[in-house]
Amino acid sequence: MRTEYCGLISRRHLGQVVTLCGWVHRRRDHGGVIFIDLRDREGLVQVVSDPDNAVTFGIADRLRHEYVIEVTGRVRERPQGTVNPNLTSGEVEVLAERIGILNPSLTPPFLMDEEHLSEQVRLEYRFLDLRRPQMQKNMRLRYHVTMAVRGFLDHHGFIDIETPMLTRSTPEGARDYLVPSRIHPGHFYALPQSPQLFKQLLMIAGFDRYYQIVRCFRDEDLRTDRQPEFTQIDVETSFLDQHAIMVLVEELIRHVFKEVLEADLPDPFPRFTYAQAMALYGSDKPDLRVPLKLTELTDLMKGVEFKVFGDAARLADGRVAALLVPQGGGLTRGEIDACTEFVRIYGAKGLAYIKVNALEKGVGGVQSPILKFLPQPVIRAILERTGARDGDLVFFGADRAKVVNEALGALRVKIGHERGLAEHGWRPAWVLDFPMFEWDEEAKRWVAMHHPFTSPADGHEDLLETDPGAAHAKAHDMVLNGWEIGGGSVRIHRQDVQSKVFRALDIGPEEAQAKFGFLLEALQYGAPPHGGIAFGLDRIVALMAGAESIRDIIAFPKTQRAQCLLTHAPNAVDEEQLKELHVRLRTPQATSA
Ligand code: AMO
Ligand code: AMP
Repeated sequence: MRTEYCGLISRRHLGQVVTLCGWVHRRRDHGGVIFIDLRDREGLVQVVSDPDNAVTFGIADRLRHEYVIEVTGRVRERPQGTVNPNLTSGEVEVLAERIGILNPSLTPPFLMDEEHLSEQVRLEYRFLDLRRPQMQKNMRLRYHVTMAVRGFLDHHGFIDIETPMLTRSTPEGARDYLVPSRIHPGHFYALPQSPQLFKQLLMIAGFDRYYQIVRCFRDEDLRTDRQPEFTQIDVETSFLDQHAIMVLVEELIRHVFKEVLEADLPDPFPRFTYAQAMALYGSDKPDLRVPLKLTELTDLMKGVEFKVFGDAARLADGRVAALLVPQGGGLTRGEIDACTEFVRIYGAKGLAYIKVNALEKGVGGVQSPILKFLPQPVIRAILERTGARDGDLVFFGADRAKVVNEALGALRVKIGHERGLAEHGWRPAWVLDFPMFEWDEEAKRWVAMHHPFTSPADGHEDLLETDPGAAHAKAHDMVLNGWEIGGGSVRIHRQDVQSKVFRALDIGPEEAQAKFGFLLEALQYGAPPHGGIAFGLDRIVALMAGAESIRDIIAFPKTQRAQCLLTHAPNAVDEEQLKELHVRLRTPQATSA
C-alpha cells in the first residue's frame, strides 16, 4: 500500500521505509547506480537502485519513460552537492528495496518535461499532456477557483440549482447547437447558450439568490478566449439594485483572487461608462495595464480640408482620434509600416503620424507626410491635446468610429505591451451604461447589445419606441487586463416593458409568444425586480494561470475548428442512428463513426 505521495517526501521522512506509486519521469544509469525520478501528482522524488540488491536492480534496469511502478525503500539524505532546492523532496532520496512494475508504457510521443510542444500533439495525447506538471497545476487552480466561488456564494446565501441542458434556443446572439428529438420527429432541443431564462424563472419562483457553475454552448467563431462549450459562474439575485449587485459580485472576484492567488484587487473597481471606455481606449474591454489613451480630434477636424481627416470628422458616425506613443519618435519606417499593416486587419485605410522633434520650434519642430495638409493652428491644437513632448510620435485614425476604435484600440494595446509600457498585476474595471441595441447593418435591424431581457436605464423606457438607438441599458460588464470576464444586467421584470423591447427588436407578438410565451406569462405572476451576472470561468482561470489560451485550463478542449483531437468528435454516425432521429443529410457523407 502507498504510504505517501512522491512529491511530498521530505526530511521529515528520513530513516523511514516508504512505499510510493508513480510514473517513471526519467531514468539515469550512472555506471552501476540507477537513478529514477518518480513522479505523481504532487511532484518528483529521486529513487536510487544499486546493484547490491540484484533483483531490484534488474527491474530498475528495465524501466522506461512513463512506466507505472511501486517502490518500497528507505528515505535517506542526498549526498552533499546533489541537493535540489527546487523540489520538496530535493534534500532526500529513496534507496529502493523493492520495485514492482504495475504497468509498462509505450514510448510516449513527448516527455513530460519537454517544452515547446505542438498543440496538435498535446491535444491528440491529452491524457499525457495533462500529466505535465504545468497542466496539473492549471487543473488544480481551476478547482481552487470554483471552490472559492462556491464558498463565497454559499456564505452569502446563494443556492446552486441545476437547469436543463436539453432546452429551447435562448437568444444570446450566437448560433445554437441543436439536438434532434427521437420522440418528436422534426423537433429539436437546443443546448443552452446560458441559463438566462431559467435563472429569471427561478427568481420569479422566489429562490431569491441562485448560482450555478454551468456549461454553456455557443456555435460561434472560435478564438483563444472562446470555446464552443465553456463554463459560466452564473449568478442571479432578487430585490437588489444594479449598484448592490455590482458591489456583491465585485466582492466575489476580490475574494477569489485573494483566496487563490493571495492577490489584492482594488476596492472598489474603477467604473467607466461605455462611452468613456470607447473614447479613451477604443474598446469596451480596455486593458488598463497600458496607460496610453486616445485623444479626441473629431471636433477639431470638422473644418479641415484634408479629405482623410475632414471627411471622417464630418460623417455622422465618424471619428478622428490620435494615439500618442511616448518616445515613439525612434520608430523606424519599417516599424511604422508594420503598425499600418496591423491596423488594416481592423479595416483602417491608413495610419497617418506626426513625429515631434523639437516642440520649442513650434510647427517647425514636427515632421510628417501630412503636415502640408493641416493648418498650423490645427497642428498646434493636436500637440496640445495629446500632450506630446520631444521625441514622441502621434498616430491618427480617421474613419467610421467603429473602425477607428477597433484599429487604434488594438494598436494601443499592442504598442503598450511591445514597448514595455504596460504595468504588471491586475487591473479590473466595470463598464456600464451600454446602449440597449446596436444596428445590424446586414439584417437592417436593431439587435440587443447584451440580450433582450436587459432592463432599459431609468427614464429610457420611452426611447425603446421613439429612438431605440439612444436607449441605454442597466447592463454591467466586468473586464480584467483587456478580457471581458463577466457580463450581466438588471432584468426586465414587467411584461409590458419586455414586450416593448421585443417590438424594438422587430420580434412580433406572435413570434414573441411562440418563443418566449412562458417568460411573458411568468412575468405576470408577481415577478420580483431581479438581476445578476455571468462570469466566464475559463477566462478568469486562464488569466490567473497566465495562460495564453483558455484551452490550457480546460481538461479536454476543442481546437479552433471545434474538434476534439482525442476522441475525434464531431464524427459521422450510422444511417440507422440518423433514421431513428428522423434526420436525412443534405450532403450524404461516408457514414461511419
Ligand atoms: P455573456 O454572453 O456576456 O452573458 O457571457 C458571460 C461571460 O461568459 C464568457 N463567455 C465565454 N467564455 C468562453 N468561451 C465563449 N464562447 C464565451 N462566451 C462568453 C465571457 C462572458 O463575459 N446570460 C448572460 C449573463 C447575464 O446577463 O447574467 C450571458 O450569458 O467571459
Ligand atoms: P493618402 O492621402 O491616402 O496618401 O494618406 C495620407 C496619409 O494619411 C498616409 O500616411 C496614410 O497612411 C494616412 N491615412 C490614410 N487614410 C487614413 C485613415 N483612414 N486614418 C488615418 N490615417 C490615414
